[in-house]
Amino acid sequence: MWCIARARPEDAPNIVELSEQLAFATLSAESREAIGFLVSGYGADVYRSWACRSRSFLIARESGTLAGFLLSYPFCLADPGDGFARAVRTEHLPTWRDHQITIIKQIAVGPAYARQGIARHLYLRLFHMLPRDSCVFGAIVEEPRNPASEGFHAALNFRRIGSRGAEDGRLRGIWFRRVDERK
Ligand SMILES: CC(C)(COP(=O)(O)OP(=O)(O)OC[C@H]1O[C@@H](n2cnc3c(N)ncnc32)[C@H](O)[C@@H]1OP(=O)(O)O)[C@@H](O)C(=O)NCCC(=O)NCCS
Repeated sequence: MWCIARARPEDAPNIVELSEQLAFATLSAESREAIGFLVSGYGADVYRSWACRSRSFLIARESGTLAGFLLSYPFCLADPGDGFARAVRTEHLPTWRDHQITIIKQIAVGPAYARQGIARHLYLRLFHMLPRDSCVFGAIVEEPRNPASEGFHAALNFRRIGSRGAEDGRLRGIWFRRVDERK
């Protein structure tokens, strides 16, 4: 059985290893379609830094092995230069206060652990940690589409509230949900 915990700085190398298995360039077109993909190739230093700063950077372990992770953090911790997050906040979430918003940066589950509910439970743990009157948003690449991620987020009650181009030039759909919804 797997368990969920806060990511620690020392988990960073395993997180990089898992994210590399799911990198856009590593996967075939069929695998990208079936299981999804990650486009942001962060190094261990980035994960280490988020593990130190964000209480909502979570991992799932199965018998000691990293099975998945959810990199999220409060809007207040977003890099001042993160124009994408700031534009989403201003244009799509104008009625929400900064302290009520959590950004989902990456969700990833190893192919060997897919469809066991691990990503769902990582999100449910996050929702449990957050105030009920708060919201979360994430961005899903649309060039090309990531149907696995869209299907997963739709199953968790997220809805697409718009789209915008990101710094890497790829269009992203913006997916949002309030924390106090049922699933
Ligand atoms: C997308 C991803 C996070 C799903 O993780 P998971 O642990 O397999 O998902 P869960 O088992 O918790 O699935 C919960 C529900 O989401 C939906 N879902 C999950 N994977 C799906 C897929 N590949 N296609 C369509 N719907 C999917 C289903 O409704 C599923 O419920 P069910 O299995 O009872 O039908 C995982 O496949 C992954 O890491 N993909 C690569 C990285 C990625 O694309 N991340 C998102 C970037 S924006």
